[in-house]
Amino acid sequence: MNAVDIIIKKRDGLALTKDEIEFMINGYTLGEIPDYQMSAFLMATYFRNMTDEETYHLTMAMLNSGKVIDLSRIKGFKVDKHSTGGVGDKTSLVLAPLVASLGIKFAKMSGRGLGHTGGTLDKLEAIRGFNISMDIEDFIDQVEHINIAIIGQTEEIDKADKKMYALRDVTGTVPSIPLIASSIMSKKLAAGSDAIILDVKVGSGAFMSNLADALKLATLMKNIGTKANKKMTCVLTNMDEPLGYAVGNSLEVIEAINTLNGRGPKDLTELCLTLGSYLLIDAGLVKSEIEGRTLLLEQIKNGQAIAKFVELVAAQGGNVDYIYHPELFDLGEEVELKASESGYISHIDSYVVGHASMLLGAGRETLDSEIDYSVGVVLNKKVGEYVNAGETLATIYHNGKNKDEAYRILESAYRYSKEPVDVKLILDVVR
Ligand code: URA
Repeated sequence: MNAVDIIIKKRDGLALTKDEIEFMINGYTLGEIPDYQMSAFLMATYFRNMTDEETYHLTMAMLNSGKVIDLSRIKGFKVDKHSTGGVGDKTSLVLAPLVASLGIKFAKMSGRGLGHTGGTLDKLEAIRGFNISMDIEDFIDQVEHINIAIIGQTEEIDKADKKMYALRDVTGTVPSIPLIASSIMSKKLAAGSDAIILDVKVGSGAFMSNLADALKLATLMKNIGTKANKKMTCVLTNMDEPLGYAVGNSLEVIEAINTLNGRGPKDLTELCLTLGSYLLIDAGLVKSEIEGRTLLLEQIKNGQAIAKFVELVAAQGGNVDYIYHPELFDLGEEVELKASESGYISHIDSYVVGHASMLLGAGRETLDSEIDYSVGVVLNKKVGEYVNAGETLATIYHNGKNKDEAYRILESAYRYSKEPVDVKLILDVVR
C-alpha cells in the first residue's frame, strides 16, 4: 500500500477501504506521509466526497490517532456540546452551567477562534485569570466535584485532526461534509461523554450555507455517533445573522452573564433552552422538551445557573468579581454605525460582522495572532426589526486598529426590506 495509489483512487472517485484510510491517517500522524500528499488527499476528498462508510472509517482512524478519555469514574450522566462555528456564538458559556446546575456532568473541550468565527476558549480567557489548560486527571476531578469543566484540547487527543485541520485551513479544504463530520466526531468521541449535542449552523456565517447540506452533515454525524453508542442530537440553527447582539470576546461574556441572569437576548436564550432540554431528556431528568424548558428556566430564575458559572470560573482560577460586576470588563472606545435607509432589516451577514470584529482585533487572522478582548461589535437591532434612516444599527468597540475599515465593512452587512420579514432560529432537529 502506498499514499500515491490511495490519492489516485480517491481522485478517480473510488471508495477507499478501511485499511487504506487507516494507512493515510496513521502515516500522516506519524509524519511518514508529508503535508503535500495529505493536501492532495484532502483536495481529492473535497471534490470526490466519501461514502458514509468511508467517513465512519476516517472518523475512527482519526479518533484512534490519539488518546481517548475515559470518564467512567465520574458517576452520573456526561454530556458534551459542539458548534460547527458561528458568529456571536457564546452558547456554551450559558448552556454548560445551565445544565450542570441540574447535576448533569458537562465535560467540554473547546477550541479557539479562527478567521471570522470566535472560540469558547478565547471568550473564557477574557475573564482575568481563567485557565483553560489542565491535565486530564484534574479535568475529570473537576467534573466529578462541580459537574463542569471547560478546557482546551490536549495535545494527546485526536492528533490527526490537529494536523489535518491546520492543513485544511490553508489548502481550501475546510468546507467538505466528510472532512467536517470526521473532524468534529473524532474529537467528540475522544472526549468520552454519554450524549453529544451538535449545533449545526446554517447561513452566511457558517460552513454550511444551505439547509440541504447542513442536514446531510447533521445526519452523517448523528449516524457516526449512534454507531459509537452515543446519544446524539443535531440542532440546525440559523446563522444568517449573528447569535444574540454581542460579537467579540468580553462583550460576549457579558451577554452570556446577562443570559444566565435571565436578561439575555431572545434567540440566545431560546437556543440554550432548546439544546438544554434535549440533554435533560437524554439524561432521563425529564420526558419532554416543554418539561425541560420549564426546569431550565427555573434554574435561571432561582440563580442556580449563574451560581454554577461562578463556580466554574473560580475553579479555573478566574476572577469572579467580573461575573458579579460585568462593568469591570475593559471595553474599547465606542463608535455608532447609523442606518443609511429606513426599512425592516432583512439580513445581517454574519460572515461580514465576524470579519469586521476580527479586523478590530477580536479574532485571529493566523493561529499566532494576538487577541484584543475589549473590542467587537454590539448590534442594536436584529433581523425583522424596523429601523429609521439615521438610527443606530450597531456599536463598534475599538482601540484604533482598523476602525474605519471595520465600519465600512460592517455597513455592508445590512440588507433592508419594505415588507416585514420572518426570522426562524431553529431550522430542524435530527435525533
Ligand atoms: N469544526 C471542527 O472541529 N472541524 C471542522 O472541520 C469544522 C468545524
